[in-house]
Amino acid sequence: FPTETVYGLGARARDPRAVAKIFAAKGRPADHPLIVHLARASEVVSWAVAVPDAAHQLAEAFWPGPLTLILRRAPGVPDEVTGGQETIGLRIPRHPVARALLEKVGDGVAAPSANRFGRVSPTHAEHVSSELGDRVELILEGGSCEVGLESTIVDCSGTTPVILRPGAITQEMLEGVLGAPIRAGGTSEVRAPGLLASHYAPRASVSLLTGAEIAARAEELVASGARVGVLASEIPEGLPSEVERFELSRDLEGVARELYARLREVDRRGVDVLLVVPPAEVGVGRAIVDRLRRAAAPRLQG
Ligand code: TXA
Ligand code: MG
Repeated sequence: FPTETVYGLGARARDPRAVAKIFAAKGRPADHPLIVHLARASEVVSWAVAVPDAAHQLAEAFWPGPLTLILRRAPGVPDEVTGGQETIGLRIPRHPVARALLEKVGDGVAAPSANRFGRVSPTHAEHVSSELGDRVELILEGGSCEVGLESTIVDCSGTTPVILRPGAITQEMLEGVLGAPIRAGGTSEVRAPGLLASHYAPRASVSLLTGAEIAARAEELVASGARVGVLASEIPEGLPSEVERFELSRDLEGVARELYARLREVDRRGVDVLLVVPPAEVGVGRAIVDRLRRAAAPRLQG
């Protein structure tokens, strides 16, 4: 089903057999926790306990929307959803199709991004059908995702909130609501596979470079026989003519929205090596660069 961030692969969160099918379809290790999606904030009490003030403030400010809160789980929440941890991830999405679905189900829907494990998240229904079409019963068409990157994850289960995954709700926006600096980075003890070094990866190998470095590198690679692509908001001058050019928007929101579709296009064109000029790390630029670094990291097995 579509959400404003990426498409999700949903199952009733209280039904362990349904949840098991998510892991089977994605090829995802079963101890990785899932986000439970809710229609309304009044449902939080049946999934989480000891919700701190900071979490209430963030929920009030950003739900429905692209924010996931990690909270202490309520008794009776299935281990299949939490990966056996004492915490749970909750999110109220704002996409109208997601909201209609959640209203109909009337209970939490566990949903990871609807891609094979370790691959790029889907931002169009066709991305889901090409990757999981033979493994899911139904795909709800909701157009292209407005945000295009996975939700911001804030761990509110400890003494102070920590950003576990940057997203469209930026550090600046979170600090504005909390009235205090917020720590970013994977120093939390909670396991979050979205934080594995290699994740969100296309088939092409990815290198992050400055605009000035790209032409020389592209020339070397082309000379060695590789099929080379360049992904940037401003395509550098002086590239060899063999290079495939993938131009991104000039604004960060636009880059976030189209990034994953571009990475899929890179693979469709058979690019071996993708050279990327990352955007500035401000606002949603932090989330974009985070995903690009993961795409560029050494690969997981398979
Ligand atoms: O935007 C999104 O968040 C999308 C849409 C479908 O809502 N969902 C998504 O789910 O990105 P997924 O499973 O691909 O990524 C969820 C991340 C994973 O890194 C997971 O480990 C982390 O959230 N997570 C979930 N529950 C957690 C918990 N209790 N503690 C720490 N991390 C958790
Ligand atoms: Mg994912």
